[in-house]
Amino acid sequence: MPLLEVKNIEKRFGGLKAISNLSFTVEENVVFSIIGPNGAGKTTLFNVLTNIYKPTSGSIFFRGTEITNLPPFRIARLGVSRTFQNLQVFLNMNTLENVMVGCHLRSKSGLIASALRLPSVIREEKQVRAMALEALEFCGLDEFANRPASSLPYGILKKLEIARSLAAKPKLLLMDEPAAGLNDTETAELCQLIKRIRDSGITVVLVEHNMSLVMEISQEVLVLNYGQLLAQGPPGEIQKNPEVIAAYLGEE
Ligand SMILES: Nc1ncnc2c1ncn2[C@@H]1O[C@H](COP(=O)(O)OP(=O)(O)OP(=O)(O)O)[C@@H](O)[C@H]1O
Ligand SMILES: [Mg+2]
Repeated sequence: MPLLEVKNIEKRFGGLKAISNLSFTVEENVVFSIIGPNGAGKTTLFNVLTNIYKPTSGSIFFRGTEITNLPPFRIARLGVSRTFQNLQVFLNMNTLENVMVGCHLRSKSGLIASALRLPSVIREEKQVRAMALEALEFCGLDEFANRPASSLPYGILKKLEIARSLAAKPKLLLMDEPAAGLNDTETAELCQLIKRIRDSGITVVLVEHNMSLVMEISQEVLVLNYGQLLAQGPPGEIQKNPEVIAAYLGEE
């Protein structure tokens, strides 16, 4: 059974077809990249997968369960996490607190138990803190744990977002342009981090414009163009595909 199965997805915004008749499957334990020109529908696809946007038609299955119409928090609970193209960091919190936010979707305590600070709540908070610290360490950010997010450089904030998405212990991680705005050293570090994420048993779906990164770490690449699947295959094949070169990669 594939980890993720997308069947005939269409997403319209009024007259605009942002995604048309898109079907693909993602197997477990791979880096699966989605590339394509600006406006191709990549971010829209992530928003549809997490049901931030309801698809106009089509269905989505995660580990065999249909998730098409589940509310976003339920999809997250099943094990789908994501990072955003535009940073979503709380600048008034420190690094650790930002990552703890990612764990709360797993917490079980209700509002009243939390307000009364029952022992179960205190225990759970300890657990959440430990999970967040583990995710920070995994991303090499432990030294920044107590630093206010507002004091951190952009490259660290991008990693913080990844740490937060990992803290929820997902099975599938959707990453929307994690290398955007990073310098070469930071991009090389990101590449290693994504490999470690995959090797830890988390499948990664990566949207990215940095082609050397994509070609280095992906097992499978899907090319979107005007909301349609233009090509899909291993990176070596995609790089040589004349249609992909014409639409997106260019001659190089
Ligand atoms: N909420 C929305 N309302 C109307 N149109 C939208 C909305 N979100 C996206 N679109 C349109 O859908 C198309 C696909 O946009 P999307 O952001 O998914 O592209 P993308 O592939 O992520 O591009 P980029 O590489 O620039 O991030 C674009 O034409 C965009 O203007
Ligand atoms: Mg986008």
